[in-house]
Amino acid sequence: MQRFHFLFKHSIIFFILSSGCLTATAKQRRSNISIGSSLSPIGNSSWRSPSGLYAFGFYPQSNVSGRYYVGVFLAGIPEKTVVWTANRDDPPVSTNDTLLFNSEGSIVLRSSQQSQDSLIADDSQSASSASMLDSGNFVLYDSNGKTLWQTFEHPTDTLLPNQRLSVGTKLFPGISETNPSTGKFLLIMQGDGNLVQYANINPYGTQHAYWASNTYNKGDNVSLNLDENGHLFLMNTTGVNIFNLTGGENPTKGMIYLMKIDSDGIFRLYSYNLRRQNSTWQVVWESTSDRCDPIGFCGFNSFCVLNDQIPDCPCLPGFVQISQGNFTSGCERNYTAEICGNKAIRELKNTKWEDVSYYVLSETTEEKCKQACLEDCNCEAALFKEEECKMQRLPLRFGRRNLRDSSIAFVKVDDATSSSPQAPFSVEGNKKELWKDIVIICLFVAVVILISAVTFGIFIYRYHVGSYRRIPGNGSARYCEDIAPLSFSYAELEKMTDGFKEEVGRGSSGTVYKGAMINGQLVAVKRLEKVLAEGEREFQTEMKVIGRTHHRNLVRLLGYSLEVSKKILVYEYMSNGSLADILFNPEKQPNWVERMGIARDIARGILYLHDECETQIIHCDIKPQNILMDENRCAKISDFGLAKLMKPDQTRTFTGIRGTRGYVAPEWHRNLPITVKADVYSFGVVLLEIICRRRCLDPNLPDDQVILEEWVYQCFENGNLSQLVEDEEVDEKQLERMIKVALWCILDEPSLRPSMKKVLLMLEGTVEIPIPPNPTSFLSAI
Ligand SMILES: *[C@@H]1O[C@H](CO)[C@@H](O)[C@H](O)[C@H]1NC(C)=O
Ligand SMILES: *[C@@H]1O[C@H](CO)[C@@H](O)[C@H](O)[C@H]1NC(C)=O
Ligand SMILES: *[C@@H]1O[C@H](CO)[C@@H](O)[C@H](O)[C@H]1NC(C)=O
Ligand SMILES: *[C@@H]1O[C@H](CO)[C@@H](O)[C@H](O)[C@H]1NC(C)=O
Ligand SMILES: *[C@@H]1O[C@H](CO)[C@@H](O)[C@H](O)[C@H]1NC(C)=O
Ligand SMILES: *[C@@H]1O[C@H](CO)[C@@H](O)[C@H](O)[C@H]1NC(C)=O
Ligand SMILES: *[C@@H]1O[C@H](CO)[C@@H](O)[C@H](O)[C@H]1NC(C)=O
Ligand SMILES: *[C@@H]1O[C@H](CO)[C@@H](O)[C@H](O)[C@H]1NC(C)=O
Ligand SMILES: *[C@@H]1O[C@H](CO)[C@@H](O)[C@H](O)[C@H]1NC(C)=O
Ligand SMILES: *[C@@H]1O[C@H](CO)[C@@H](O)[C@H](O)[C@H]1NC(C)=O
Repeated sequence: MQRFHFLFKHSIIFFILSSGCLTATAKQRRSNISIGSSLSPIGNSSWRSPSGLYAFGFYPQSNVSGRYYVGVFLAGIPEKTVVWTANRDDPPVSTNDTLLFNSEGSIVLRSSQQSQDSLIADDSQSASSASMLDSGNFVLYDSNGKTLWQTFEHPTDTLLPNQRLSVGTKLFPGISETNPSTGKFLLIMQGDGNLVQYANINPYGTQHAYWASNTYNKGDNVSLNLDENGHLFLMNTTGVNIFNLTGGENPTKGMIYLMKIDSDGIFRLYSYNLRRQNSTWQVVWESTSDRCDPIGFCGFNSFCVLNDQIPDCPCLPGFVQISQGNFTSGCERNYTAEICGNKAIRELKNTKWEDVSYYVLSETTEEKCKQACLEDCNCEAALFKEEECKMQRLPLRFGRRNLRDSSIAFVKVDDATSSSPQAPFSVEGNKKELWKDIVIICLFVAVVILISAVTFGIFIYRYHVGSYRRIPGNGSARYCEDIAPLSFSYAELEKMTDGFKEEVGRGSSGTVYKGAMINGQLVAVKRLEKVLAEGEREFQTEMKVIGRTHHRNLVRLLGYSLEVSKKILVYEYMSNGSLADILFNPEKQPNWVERMGIARDIARGILYLHDECETQIIHCDIKPQNILMDENRCAKISDFGLAKLMKPDQTRTFTGIRGTRGYVAPEWHRNLPITVKADVYSFGVVLLEIICRRRCLDPNLPDDQVILEEWVYQCFENGNLSQLVEDEEVDEKQLERMIKVALWCILDEPSLRPSMKKVLLMLEGTVEIPIPPNPTSFLSAI
């Protein structure tokens, strides 16, 4: 609660006390501030509301004389309380600065030092009057009395009665009780109806949330409201109260309320009794009573622990506080870390921190976890829980101790008893030689890791999500880059895409926009139209599975957003459009050799999804529009894994609606189980299109050619395949092979179709291809 003591010429409080029906008349009355008015920290320092309860103007920075901020505060009580601050991240101003309602209709701060005025209200239209209302709202009006701008719509850390936190709006606490700059936490009214508190980091995601109203899926326009009796609740578009945070109190004259997110990350409802002498703000309700709950309360390499409800941030063993008495400064090692020096492990029970492990050992024991960390030069600490050992590097953040948590933390420290037989690596034999070897191996590993780290450096550095994972079941130290997709906030995606400006594609599952990441990498941002209405967690798990698929013939998923009701996916950007764009455009058509390369690329991508992923993925929608071409015209499959996220019936119905019937395997229409062979069928159709450079259905062609599959089989039976490629010069043997592969793929009976592995071997020409059977059921197949 930011308060200050400021002597006014006449105390307003008695005036307020005498005006008994303060709240009833509050809305009607307003002061009239006209163009040309000005304020200065000394002299007339604020504009009051008619009742005198609220004021807009200069307020002094706590504990620093001669420094002021501009804001709205409760002026009518001895404990002056700030409820809004302008340009909170700018430095405070000096006594010589003035606030001016200038002739252009803007409220500006005129500095004695700088020539440029700085705007207080970021409105482009010019106002003709302003008013400090008794509700605590400072408003700018145009000449017709229409509201142009109001502090109620640009809250900082406080919500007043009748003020609404509307969808998409955030409250940020101050850094401390005395510093109003944007602090380490945020409260957002999300587009999915959920009111959530996050650690204010960039980008923040679900894993950084520490409080939520759990009103997920209650509509896309839910708002947080506070009424005059201290009733804090969520309301949907139709004005229905959908969730009570507080019940509200019996109306009491002279009682005022406000909701504020404090610098410790907890938001609280306060009350103040105007009628009582020397009253103080009382906490009526708080979002949590556990002051270690806010994620990131403590700095790096320390952890939050409650001492009699008071949070403390002790450093990890072997670490010292960077700046004494400053929680946020974090801790650092009190020695210069030596790679692979003589180390020991310290144990912290019930303690954990953010999981950004580079290495996970599963089905292990505490003892093995300790040993593994000791033996790995990169391991600075490990978290052990439920037979999993997660190894991490520094810094460790969001640490906390919680007796309800069974995690055990192991922290590597210098071994004070290095000569003792308990020291690590106490192996029989020539210890010194072994030691030397270990150092060499460690250095080698460190160099390898350094090189990979540099490759992915920007990524890792920016987002702290880089991690390496050992491939389980493979004894050798095989590392594999594993950069999990990032969770973006909606605001970030808006920024990345410049407000979803440049649309580059539109498909059945959503619209795609072009964007760029902070590091300049171009991305395609896809807004999904239809997604499972199930929990975020499921979606996120799925995203992680899909995000872990890495193959040169799959479009990489870089991130996603869960913040709004519509899910958003971020992919790498493919500059050459889709296969459909080049294949069906006579000016861009690739030649035969290129086309065969494309067919093999697609087959490899599908093979990976079917056989080589952690979980088998059936694409369900292989078609030229979903195959994208990068700048080297290398084909990559996109939208894979989307099928897993969609409801099964959705997948089915939208394939029907879309008019891509030609690619759909017959089992879809027969209510048979869908297997990987459905993708094989679709691939066969795409392969025919690649060979013939035309769509599978083309009503503009002569009757017998409209359905590509039928026509191809006719030509195949008549031994007249060259008709299919018209005047293109093509190796006849190769053409026949390709046609045969495609005809095998599009057989009606799923079990007769070859596996993708077989298909690839056939395309590569390494196996004999038998004559395909007569697919007489073509007509029923499409
Ligand atoms: C505010 O004052 C201006 C002139 O000073 C006047 O024209 C205007 O009508 C007043 N507005 C209100 C709401 O009193
Ligand atoms: C303060 O404002 C009043 C009118 O509101 C004016 O009469 C007075 O001169 C002003 N004082 C200073 C120091 O500007
Ligand atoms: C501000 O000053 C008050 C006394 O005037 C003191 O109790 C408080 O600790 C100070 N706060 C800071 C952050 O210096
Ligand atoms: C304010 O102005 C006066 C006179 O112009 C000057 O003496 C003083 O140093 C200035 N104060 C600040 C904080 O700039
Ligand atoms: C608002 O909530 C009520 C009650 O839950 C519900 O009947 C109504 O459909 C909701 N309105 C919207 C727009 O979601
Ligand atoms: C959102 O809901 C509020 C009421 O809670 C309503 O006043 C406002 O018009 C709604 N906005 C939209 C865009 O529907
Ligand atoms: C919220 O509380 C009010 C009484 O203050 C009650 O009438 C209403 O039904 C409650 N709404 C919900 C959603 O619990
Ligand atoms: C309230 O003020 C009275 C004197 O006016 C004083 O005796 C009393 O201790 C004060 N109460 C509190 C809680 O500060
Ligand atoms: C590091 O800290 C530990 C415990 O806090 C202490 O025993 C040790 O002497 C310190 N080492 C150095 C080099 O300061
Ligand atoms: C605490 O440390 C942080 C980070 O080092 C710094 O930004 C902040 O100003 C410090 N706060 C105080 C009160 O010293």
